[in-house]
Parts: sequence; structure tokens; C-alpha cells
Amino acid sequence: MSMDQNKGSTSARWVYEAEDLKGTERLAEALAKLAQPGTVIALDGDLGAGKTAFSQLFAKHLGVKDTVNSPTFTLIKEYEGRLPFYHMDVYRLSLDEADELGLDEYFYGHGVTLVEWASLIEELLPEDKLQIYIETVSATGRRMHINVQGATYESWVPALKEIGVSES
Ligand SMILES: Nc1ncnc2c1ncn2[C@@H]1O[C@H](COP(=O)(O)OP(=O)(O)OP(=O)(O)O)[C@@H](O)[C@H]1O
Ligand SMILES: [Mg+2]
Repeated sequence: MSMDQNKGSTSARWVYEAEDLKGTERLAEALAKLAQPGTVIALDGDLGAGKTAFSQLFAKHLGVKDTVNSPTFTLIKEYEGRLPFYHMDVYRLSLDEADELGLDEYFYGHGVTLVEWASLIEELLPEDKLQIYIETVSATGRRMHINVQGATYESWVPALKEIGVSES
């Protein structure tokens, strides 16, 4: 998928520079602390950008003890942490198939949903969400383009600024 197809990429308001996996972990940790029931994080980025790596680090800081695998083939996997954690990968789903899965049960449920390749099902996502487009800038460097939609996520911005998220 090109950057242009992803609304969250080119028009993102916020940016976070991760020099390496540790840097990615700092963002994942901050977001895991902010997460509440009904939190939806939409992840995009090219193959191998680090969507699953980010998800694993997010899960770790949400208190998930189980191994979080790439959900490319399972589509949706549920874990238990401080809150339930719903990990999705919609890469192999058509919009119709995704629609039939009744994803709203997850999005508006008791847990936190993280969707890899979220822009493929943009129409099915809640309006209020946090979007991250992961751009690969070097072997370990990732530029995270972040958009917040809705008052809840807007209220997270000060905490995100503290870890280095800045206006893009
Ligand atoms: N700063 C970083 N942030 C995230 N991943 C990184 C970083 N630096 C190196 N990596 C490595 O990049 C790889 C990212 O792979 P990952 O499977 O997470 O990508 P993905 O976006 O989920 O790919 P796919 O599109 O196949 O689902 C991992 O091996 C990870 O360790
Ligand atoms: Mg992945």
C-alpha cells in the first residue's frame, strides 16, 4: 500500500521518532497506560514496518503475559491483560468479510482493540480512534505518524508530548 492511500500518513498531525525498538516500546508503553475500555488503535505501515512488533510491546505493557503472535492468519485474537486485548490483522479480509465479522463488538467492548492494516477497513472503524502510520526510515528507525480523532484521544496528547510526540 502506498502512503497516499493511507489518510493517516500524509495528513497526520503528530509525529514520533523511534530510533530503535526501545523507542517504539516507549510509545507503546505510553499508549498502553492511557488505554481504557473501548480504546481503538488503528495501525498501518508497509510490510515489516513494525505493526506486529508495536502490538506485542503494547500488549506487554497492558499486562498481557501470553505470547502475542502475528494475527495475519487468525484475523482476531483475544488476550487478557489489565483490560482485554483484541488484536486484529485485516490484511487478508475483504471489506464485506470484515463487515460480517461484527467488529463493533470488539471496538465498543470492554477491551482495547489494535488493528493492523486498519485503513483497509476504514469505513468499519469507529470515528473516534488513534491512528498510527509507521514509516520505515532506516534499519531500526521508524517515524510514527499519529492522528487522534475524538475528545478522549485528544486528551491523551499531553501525555504523548511528554515522551517526545510533537506537532508534525
Ligand atoms: N523501531 C522499530 N520498531 C518496530 N520494529 C522494529 C524497529 N526496529 C526494528 N524492528 C523490526 O522490524 C520488524 C517488524 O516486523 P513486524 O512483523 O512487526 O512488521 P509488520 O508491520 O507487522 O509486518 P506485516 O505487514 O507483515 O504484518 C521486526 O523484526 C522488528 O524487530
Ligand atoms: Mg504484522
